[in-house]
Amino acid sequence: NKKGFIFDLDGVIVDTAKYHYLAWKALANSIGIDFTHIQNEQLKGVSRESSLKKILEWGNKTLSNEEFLKLMSKKNEEYLSYISNMDESEILPDVTKILNYLSQQNQPIALGSASKNSKQILKKVNLLHQFNAIVDGNDVTNAKPDPEVFLKAANRVNIPVEDCVVFEDSVAGIQAANKANMISIGIGEVSVLNEADFVFKDFTQISSEFIEKISKVKKK
Ligand code: BG6
Ligand code: MG
Repeated sequence: NKKGFIFDLDGVIVDTAKYHYLAWKALANSIGIDFTHIQNEQLKGVSRESSLKKILEWGNKTLSNEEFLKLMSKKNEEYLSYISNMDESEILPDVTKILNYLSQQNQPIALGSASKNSKQILKKVNLLHQFNAIVDGNDVTNAKPDPEVFLKAANRVNIPVEDCVVFEDSVAGIQAANKANMISIGIGEVSVLNEADFVFKDFTQISSEFIEKISKVKKK
């Protein structure tokens, strides 16, 4: 059966949270706001704009629109400086294996990410060619948990939503997949991703038998 396999990027294909952390921390500290790993966790899956809004809220700070835009681009410049050093060694375990398996089976593969840097990152880790469609933060107006990004991805690979499977590491992303009426697979901890249809610690835990099984069922 033809299915649409939609992958989130950050936290699913590569672990960029550490670079987001460094860039947000430098930025927050530069305006006198603390920034912790726990706060960084809460920004997973959250758009760049909403992330800065949250940081300002945590620091009880308000900025002019102009300052806000300046800080967003400053953060991104620093983030991109980390991205520029990425290579294939940063692909998370067994991601390449599952992508190869799916393309051998002729299954459509799409990216559904909140990031506006997704193409640069996929290029750096040499995975761009694996995707039949890329839908990211540049293509959507409503951020996850809104299903827009996944609905667009399904549309681009021409697969009905109930035949789509989403791999996500964030709560907002799982909610978006569920709202889109797609099978949601959490990559991470069950305690965090309990709204997902299935949860795996990482791709090393996902067998080809599971992929075959999932290819035969529809979202209920
Ligand atoms: C998500 C990340 O995938 O993309 C978030 O989990 C990030 O941490 C968001 O803020 C937007 O990314 P970018 O690359 O456009 O700043
Ligand atoms: Mg993610």
